[in-house]
Amino acid sequence: MAAPAPMSPRTGTSVRKTSLLEGRNPWTRAAPITIRAATPRPAGRPRTSTRRVPCAPLPEDPRDDDGIVRVVGLHAMGRRPTLETERLVLRPFHAADAPEVMRLAGDAAIASTTMNIPHPYDLGMAEAWIGSHQEGFDEGRLVNFAVTLREEDRLVGAIGLVVAPAHAHAELGYWIGREHWNRGYATEAAQAVVRHGFETVDLHRIHARHFARNPASGRVLQKIGMRHEGRQPQHVRKQDGFEDLELYGLLRPHA
Ligand SMILES: CC(C)(COP(=O)(O)OP(=O)(O)OC[C@H]1O[C@@H](n2cnc3c(N)ncnc32)[C@H](O)[C@@H]1OP(=O)(O)O)[C@@H](O)C(=O)NCCC(=O)NCCS
Repeated sequence: MAAPAPMSPRTGTSVRKTSLLEGRNPWTRAAPITIRAATPRPAGRPRTSTRRVPCAPLPEDPRDDDGIVRVVGLHAMGRRPTLETERLVLRPFHAADAPEVMRLAGDAAIASTTMNIPHPYDLGMAEAWIGSHQEGFDEGRLVNFAVTLREEDRLVGAIGLVVAPAHAHAELGYWIGREHWNRGYATEAAQAVVRHGFETVDLHRIHARHFARNPASGRVLQKIGMRHEGRQPQHVRKQDGFEDLELYGLLRPHA
């Protein structure tokens, strides 16, 4: 099914989303996405703003020496966005998704190759996780999307960006329920989120990490055009052992 013409989040007008996207990375050749729910930016307002925002602990502290967070576009966007691809709708999680999140993410196979998903995974964890998204978005430090099938409105996974505003970069993370693996959903969702990160959030760089024993995730990152940047031997502890991490990254085309 052909994707509808993308709408500019800033002007609300129909645009071809190719201006930033003429690099050699495969994601730039993906089907166009539609971005909804972004608040139009008033004329003359800079894409990057400086303001004080409450700041929860982050992997990398976004505060500069003066204690001010340099906010990229995410925080300035208002309502959490919805992205549409050919087969998927990436939308904000709702409280009603919690039982399905528990069922899908509660699979030991999901916990096994992710850092922060516990096992067993109960309903309260899913509710608390979903309940944290709006605050994280409001603080400009994360945007999470429910990965749903466009035809069935069925939840199949999750994808998101953890943003370090001071550096205009973000880490991409995702999981797809085991019954939906190997259908290209992670790749399709990741392409849309990376494009959103560069075009709308105004990021300079997006990176990702995966356990070395999880080649499927590496394949997703390769397919969206990320460069392999190295390996960190035994960098993190998981259960009883240490895990090697594979590092990937991508600069905004023409940055
Ligand atoms: C990693 C994950 C998100 C991939 O989701 P997905 O929707 O199946 O991904 P896609 O279908 O878009 O692509 C998967 C690719 O990996 C390949 N793949 C699958 N298993 C593989 C393996 N054992 N070795 C090498 N490649 C493998 C597939 O063939 C496919 O590549 P191809 O299109 O070139 O054939 C999913 O397996 C998952 O959720 N795993 C558990 C959570 C997790 O690991 N999240 C990532 C943390 S970094």
